[in-house]
Amino acid sequence: EKGTYPHYMLKEIDEQPFVMRRIIQKYQDENGQLTIDPQIIQEVLNADRLYIIACGTSYHAGLVGKQLIEKWAKIPVEVHVASEFSYNMPLLSEKPLFIYISQSGETADSRAVLVQTNKLGYKAITITNVPGSTLSREADYTLLLHAGPEIAVASTKAYTAQIAVLAILAVTTAKAKGIELDFDLVKELAITANVMEMLCDAKEEMEKIAREYLAATRNCFFIGRAVDYYVCLEGALKLKEISYIQAEGFAGGELKHGTIALIEDGTPVIALATQEHVNLNIRGNVKEVVARGANPCIISMRGLETDEDRFVIPAVHPMLTPLVSVVPLQLIAYYAALHRGCDVDKPRNLAKSVTVE
Ligand code: F6R
Repeated sequence: EKGTYPHYMLKEIDEQPFVMRRIIQKYQDENGQLTIDPQIIQEVLNADRLYIIACGTSYHAGLVGKQLIEKWAKIPVEVHVASEFSYNMPLLSEKPLFIYISQSGETADSRAVLVQTNKLGYKAITITNVPGSTLSREADYTLLLHAGPEIAVASTKAYTAQIAVLAILAVTTAKAKGIELDFDLVKELAITANVMEMLCDAKEEMEKIAREYLAATRNCFFIGRAVDYYVCLEGALKLKEISYIQAEGFAGGELKHGTIALIEDGTPVIALATQEHVNLNIRGNVKEVVARGANPCIISMRGLETDEDRFVIPAVHPMLTPLVSVVPLQLIAYYAALHRGCDVDKPRNLAKSVTVE
């Protein structure tokens, strides 16, 4: 039920802080330690490489998950779009382990790969929001998102839930390997939940940004570096699927290799700047597009901000920024769609679960 909310999407965006807290709870043992089924951890430890398979928003969460697992658990990870993987399987490592990420657990493209890897005898974990779903039943193990039903076609709370579960998987694997991490994920996720809440309270500002930058435009670019780039892919997908504005997420440094030709007077460019080690680089990339007439909207993180920034997100752990930086992008997409009179919850040409290949 959407209750007093005008749309499921807005309700589901707002639920994200609660989902974060529920995930922490569900994955805590009686001592408050984050824990994952020891059999799953054993499979991860047995593997020499993880293959994350997913589509759309879940694929974007997988990209963030790769960073978390590689940086914290020190296991190489590849992330693949399911529909490509199934017809063009890459050379696999000796001991691969497959992780399927699917909110619905019913996505045919992802299932097509699972059927193949099952046949090859490889172990599989499904990360899904739906217990008993096809991908959950057909994989060896399941990790649940505990996000509650997601009704809006545009995925929001499932994305952040997927990243949180991948973070927990990364940290528990690191611990099992004896890798010392200098932070407490329970604490850091609790902080991100609080920051998410503050961002959900910034709706008026997000509506203003949407009105100012997107009310009349035909296209929009999202640029970011490192993990911000992955969030840009998701921000662009959200915007295009519900507002029908042509939107593209780009690696900040890649734009100049061709796509910058599309920047005209007034083209909106939304830039994420949450990563200290590339802060100067992304700001340089913003200057490049501004010099071609772009209308920049910089969303940065506290501690990295400058006077030119449009919105500053309170600081969270640098590896967990996608959990919070995506929220303004979800809200901007929502308001852009609203301003343009689009059917937010049921965009044209799309279905909630894509059960055809
Ligand atoms: C975008 C969106 C889709 C899904 C994709 C995978 O907002 O909802 O891109 O993320 O179809 O769906 P699941 O996660 O159910 O496999």
